[in-house]
Amino acid sequence: MNPNKEADFGTPQRHSTRLVTLSIDGHSVTVPAGTSVMHAALASGIDIPKLCATDTLEAFGSCRVCLVEIENRKGYPASCTTPAEEGMKVHTQTAKLGDLRRGVMELYMSDHPADCRDHAGSGTCEMHGVAHDVGLTEVRYESGRTHLAAKVDASNPYFQFDPAKCIVCSRCVRACDDIQGTFALTVEGRAFDSRIVVSADEPFLDSECVSCGACVQACPTDALVEKSVVEMGAPDRVISTTCAYCGVGCGFRAEMKGDELVRMVPEKAAKANHGHSCVKGRFAWTYATHQDRMTKPMIRERITDPWRVVSWDEALQRAASEFRRIQDKYGRGAIGGITSSRCSNEETYLVQKMVRAAFGNNNVDTCARVCHSPTGYGLKTTIGESAGTQDFDSIDRADVIIVMGANPTDAHPVFGSRLKQRVREGMKVIVIDPRAIDLVRVPNVEAAYHLATRPGTNVAILNALAHVVVTEGLAKEAYVRERCEWPAYEAWRTFISDPAQSPEAMEAVTGVPAAQVRGAARLYAQAGNAAIYYGLGVTEHSQGSTAVMGIANLAMVTGNVGRIGVGINPLRGQNNVQGSCDMGSFPHELPGYRHIGDDVVRKLFEDDWKVKLDPEPGLRIPNMFDAAHDGSFRALYCQGEDIAQSDPNTAHVTAALRAMECVVVQDIFLNETAKYAHVFLPGTSFLEKDGTFTNSERRVSRIRKVMEPLCGMADWEVTCALSKALGYPMDYAHPSEIMDEIARLTPTFTGVSYKLIDELGSIQWPCNEAAPEGTPTMHIGEFVRGKGQFIVTEYVPTDEKVTRRYPLLMTTGRILSQYNVGAQTRRTANVAWYAEDLLEIHPHDAEDRGIRDGDAVGVASRAGETVLRARVTERVQPGVVYTTFHFPEAGSNVLTTENSDWATNCPEYKVTAVQVSRAAQPSDWQKQFQRFSDEQVGLAEQATEALAR
Ligand code: SF4
Ligand code: SF4
Ligand code: FES
Repeated sequence: MNPNKEADFGTPQRHSTRLVTLSIDGHSVTVPAGTSVMHAALASGIDIPKLCATDTLEAFGSCRVCLVEIENRKGYPASCTTPAEEGMKVHTQTAKLGDLRRGVMELYMSDHPADCRDHAGSGTCEMHGVAHDVGLTEVRYESGRTHLAAKVDASNPYFQFDPAKCIVCSRCVRACDDIQGTFALTVEGRAFDSRIVVSADEPFLDSECVSCGACVQACPTDALVEKSVVEMGAPDRVISTTCAYCGVGCGFRAEMKGDELVRMVPEKAAKANHGHSCVKGRFAWTYATHQDRMTKPMIRERITDPWRVVSWDEALQRAASEFRRIQDKYGRGAIGGITSSRCSNEETYLVQKMVRAAFGNNNVDTCARVCHSPTGYGLKTTIGESAGTQDFDSIDRADVIIVMGANPTDAHPVFGSRLKQRVREGMKVIVIDPRAIDLVRVPNVEAAYHLATRPGTNVAILNALAHVVVTEGLAKEAYVRERCEWPAYEAWRTFISDPAQSPEAMEAVTGVPAAQVRGAARLYAQAGNAAIYYGLGVTEHSQGSTAVMGIANLAMVTGNVGRIGVGINPLRGQNNVQGSCDMGSFPHELPGYRHIGDDVVRKLFEDDWKVKLDPEPGLRIPNMFDAAHDGSFRALYCQGEDIAQSDPNTAHVTAALRAMECVVVQDIFLNETAKYAHVFLPGTSFLEKDGTFTNSERRVSRIRKVMEPLCGMADWEVTCALSKALGYPMDYAHPSEIMDEIARLTPTFTGVSYKLIDELGSIQWPCNEAAPEGTPTMHIGEFVRGKGQFIVTEYVPTDEKVTRRYPLLMTTGRILSQYNVGAQTRRTANVAWYAEDLLEIHPHDAEDRGIRDGDAVGVASRAGETVLRARVTERVQPGVVYTTFHFPEAGSNVLTTENSDWATNCPEYKVTAVQVSRAAQPSDWQKQFQRFSDEQVGLAEQATEALAR
């Protein structure tokens, strides 16, 4: 591999249709007008030496290495900033140019450590290569003033900055500004004294830097370099794979040295991220080899017993015999399974297949139950497909977007950076969120409107927006007449036009001034292209499904579905939430969202799987817990999810787990749920297996094995073995064969195969005869369900009300450096940025309670009580508090209640009435948690020690 970080200097990013023809070193070349001479030369196979230019950034022209001669033009212009013109005659290789380039490089090298390759051990510095290319063999300058003694900033856990190697080319500054949009770096001073400064001249770790790695990737020297590269040396081979964190699904190059992973570098050709990354995917992958990894199967009779390390065979036989014993005693429906949105499509497909075919019931569910199940219901009902309508690139054509109940710069960071780029280019943003997320205002980005709703009033605000559209004559009725069911539209129009839905009437409910709602509605409705992006702040409510349908109503009435630049875009939380839903993880749906009660569909699967299937939908996760409490549900297979931490009302969940006779957990760590398990099956990280993930754009991308499974088997192999032990063998030689079966049985996947993914890089479903290379934009011409369906969305206030006892509303969300239940990111150096869940509280509410920033505060709800540290901030409005849920000991979900979405049971995480007061010690729950947790870790350690003896 070429070790240079920006070596693959790609095609010109010019879209002009006017062509110009010029001559470069005697070769005629034709390129789009506006292409730089450097890119035109590259197009004819001539590589001009360069340092400050890179294909991911606008040219800057600072290093003067890329000089050329142009006939009839004075001087030696920089080829990276000079546009190609018709008839130009360019020379890139004259003796004079050679002298000039050597002179420039000699100056650079006189202030650059000659031994930097050996020094850093990385071999990734471009300087020496360029010096060699221009023929520089020695530096004649006597050593004078240099930067060579400058101090290295090693404060960032993942990369270091060595000013001695910096040539002040400003690539890092431009990457931070133009790609990431954080504006943390500047060039300070002039000439010899110019230098790179981080924020207010701070160490990287203390600065605004979000550690996305764009600067490191852009740096042509080893001034900015990954610490792993310094320690291990330059990688020598590459395996392409996909990030296993969020729903953006960034493509990465796993860069290896022998069998060891040296670094993860975002893939420029990857269509989800175009070469950008965030701190999680770029750096936080070391959890895969963390000492806490569980690599041996274990069993025990009771959860108070020590674990016993056993063979795979014994563990699988124990799980299977317990499942069968329990079914014999309590009935076929007494057991069930939970699939994982962190596992691959193939793995989730196999778990649901095993439940339906080997368990003989449909008691299968997935974590989407607690995040995006309302998206499935709401979008299926209104437009006919349970998925986002666009690809991420669609944002390039949007004029206005609504971001509702989502915080992309923290939860979907690469897409968040893209949004900020587009805002800087003029796109308008309307933020609907109780909290001032970054998109409301950060340097160079400001939302046109921030509708700071009270938690729980999404449907009210969506209705108010739609009311303005309809009553102010902004509805696109021609579009609606052609594309939607007209009688349903008329009924909805009557409902939404009622003054009761107006912004003025709703102001008392939402807390948002009517004038702002009217302004936002006009902006959205009158845009050429307007799109909606939303997240769990929409779905995790008692009216989550209603809000999703309200979003669809708004998009349809303004004609904003069915072309590039518009649409309805749920931002999925975990990497494979879309995929786990697609693969049939819900109790009522087979793969491809087809109802289990549909005889034709069921027969298709019965014939292929050679087994009779139960036509009745099975239990959802909350129903499993309730049934465990009443004694009818006795055993669970839980793959790669941590329900004891992630699901609401922890006390209820853990009591349900304790009530079961056999809990089988498969995970890479002894997670919170495993502490209640009787059989533990070790899992594999995304680096240890082949498969596919499907991101928020419906994009199916490959994950490829980078290292052997630490436990000896990939998760899909374990499920096959368990199914075999249950008497239903599932035999596949490779995950590609599982995908072939999915394609055979799922109309939206008919054309998907590993071969095609390898050819195209990734595929957005539907991919079939009608769309052989996939479908970036859905619902073009007509909706998947035929005519779009308007649904009347009556606002119904949640039962979770503030009272004198619980006067504040708590809502929850994520932070950039941590991920979901934190099992992975807590085991990386990302804790340097966020090491505990904090409670954000408005200064007024804090003052009323005598709370100062950093104080320990008790948070009590109707469900439970915990203690967190307070962060006093105006990000939240008075009356609202906010926390994250990344640390189990914080117990955020001890507080959340069992209220849930009326249609899907998605929990109402986003609205919990609480009281907050100063606290002196951990809550009783936290003390109990710590005791139980320590005991369980001790029991697992005893097992490992016993094995070692
Ligand atoms: S740190 Fe690297 S990218 Fe930034 S100015 Fe210095 S050499 Fe250029
Ligand atoms: S944005 Fe999401 S998918 Fe991309 S690197 Fe970050 S966590 Fe991974
Ligand atoms: S590469 Fe053109 S001036 Fe640096």
